[in-house]
Amino acid sequence: MRPNGEHPRTVLISGASRGIGRAIAERLLAEGHRLSLGVRDPQALRGTALDPDRHPQLHVHPYDAGDPDGADAWVAACVARFGAIDSVIASAGQFSRVGLLYEAGQEPEIEQLWQVNVLGPWRLVRAAWPLLTAHGAGRIVVLVSMSGKRSKGRLAGYTASKFALMGLCQTMRNEGWEQGIRVTAVCPSWVNTDMAAGVSSLPKTEMTQPGDLAALTSQLLTLPNSCVPFELAVNCTLEA
Ligand SMILES: NC(=O)c1ccc[n+]([C@@H]2O[C@H](COP(=O)([O-])OP(=O)(O)OC[C@H]3O[C@@H](n4cnc5c(N)ncnc54)[C@H](OP(=O)(O)O)[C@@H]3O)[C@@H](O)[C@H]2O)c1
Repeated sequence: MRPNGEHPRTVLISGASRGIGRAIAERLLAEGHRLSLGVRDPQALRGTALDPDRHPQLHVHPYDAGDPDGADAWVAACVARFGAIDSVIASAGQFSRVGLLYEAGQEPEIEQLWQVNVLGPWRLVRAAWPLLTAHGAGRIVVLVSMSGKRSKGRLAGYTASKFALMGLCQTMRNEGWEQGIRVTAVCPSWVNTDMAAGVSSLPKTEMTQPGDLAALTSQLLTLPNSCVPFELAVNCTLEA
């Protein structure tokens, strides 16, 4: 068995252009990990803290979570660059307020949520699976949500996609356990990112901050197979 809390790791991160994924990428980069970022617009990272020209351990690949072939192409490009993948962090996601009694014409919005929030991480983990199992201490961190644990706020489309994602996380944990894969479903309520920009019920300063989720994620990558939590429920307000 390889050392469980091995450092540096070779990490795929989706959703690293903004928000939580970006905070995680910046933190893991500073800690010396090898990172492969799948983003829709690689050019937008030029001149920023995640410019691959500034960091030899940083790889960027075009990736759209709704593209059925996107994950395979990204994983192949990462392997060509680094020769391995031992961790996947799935943060790309979309929010929607489409409700239970959605309007005519809103079904494409629901299908888009399924494509990005469910099939996106599914395809990504499926593509990286042989590398994760071969490693012996593979890690998968998925940004789910409290909306993957309870239904609140008339968000049927988003909630259904996140419950499905939670089911997928449990399945990944079960099927990867013997080969040393450990899965963590990170379940925050509101996080101070663009996704929560329209939320007026809570000051941004009282929301969970993306840098704090990055600190938790960094810690997860250091833990041995015997000590990785499956779920991190992160509330910024009391939900008794
Ligand atoms: N913010 C919250 O309150 C909150 C709470 C609980 C859970 N979460 C979950 O945490 C994750 C990250 O959310 P966030 O707050 O960081 O959101 P965000 O600031 O809106 O960022 C979303 C990220 O997902 C990427 N993305 C969206 N659609 C994509 C697609 N089709 N293909 C590839 N990338 C795509 C975006 O890339 P572009 O820059 O190309 O758009 C961006 O990097 C999501 O899964 C979200 O559901 C968020």
